[in-house]
Amino acid sequence: MSGTSGYAFDNTSELAGGRFDALETCYDPVTFARLADLGVGPGMRCLELGGGGGSVAGWLADRVGPTGSVLVTDLEPRWMDGLPGRANLRVVRHDIGAEELPEGDFDLIHARLVLLHVPERGAALDRLVRALRPGGLLVLDEFDCGWIPVLASPSPESAALFERMHDAVMGIITAAGADMRWGAHAYAALCRAGLTEVASATYAESWRGGSSGTRLHQVNIRQLAGRLVEKGLTQEQLDDCMRLLDDPDFAVNSYPLITTWGVRP
Ligand SMILES: C[S@@+](CC[C@H](N)C(=O)[O-])C[C@H]1O[C@@H](n2cnc3c(N)ncnc32)[C@H](O)[C@@H]1O
Repeated sequence: MSGTSGYAFDNTSELAGGRFDALETCYDPVTFARLADLGVGPGMRCLELGGGGGSVAGWLADRVGPTGSVLVTDLEPRWMDGLPGRANLRVVRHDIGAEELPEGDFDLIHARLVLLHVPERGAALDRLVRALRPGGLLVLDEFDCGWIPVLASPSPESAALFERMHDAVMGIITAAGADMRWGAHAYAALCRAGLTEVASATYAESWRGGSSGTRLHQVNIRQLAGRLVEKGLTQEQLDDCMRLLDDPDFAVNSYPLITTWGVRP
């Protein structure tokens, strides 16, 4: 865990970069299409929360142009060091679980796969709502990790191994304070937080062994290897699972990405 944030992954490790690459490949097209569809455009003042590798922040900065601005935050902003400099883009270290934001400031706040990891997500959500100007839009892209059926596998045993490994990974992340079904809980939370025009849309696809999607599982397993062994998995099982995730005869449903949005009255 990094600091008191509750984030289960060591986001100073080199493996964090691999996670961001995989997330960007799998989900940037979905995020960009949705933000464009919701009317994100020139002149908007944006907050990108927990920006990770920074691809969404960079896209937003290009989209809002010189009359707009983007503030991008993260607990560990160093993964954004390589972002091409833009006059309308500012990167800051910030913990949404503990630190305030400017109030009434933003036309758009977007976060992908951040609040699910924040133990104080209710307080964080209230903080985000206060940071919107009246009429401003909050957009959350979040996983529901509760439905990822194995779609094809070289053997029933290998499918069972993947499921056991995935349950153990989810257990570790949940113990750090994450809500791995937050994608499905966000709609009610946005309504409770007082937003109007709340709506959601879900995206999922198949991830074949050797793809960017199964690489995300590999990064998670590699990063949590020590704790997975403490939970009773053997190094041999970890190795078998890593090989399975490279096998084109294996396929698993992606994590459903549930995008939920609402407007501050
Ligand atoms: C799963 S990654 C997602 C990164 C990026 N949003 C994406 O989708 O490509 C979660 C990110 O949230 C950041 N994070 C976790 N807890 C946070 C907190 N309390 N405040 C700000 N950022 C946080 C992590 O450092 C990490 O960069």
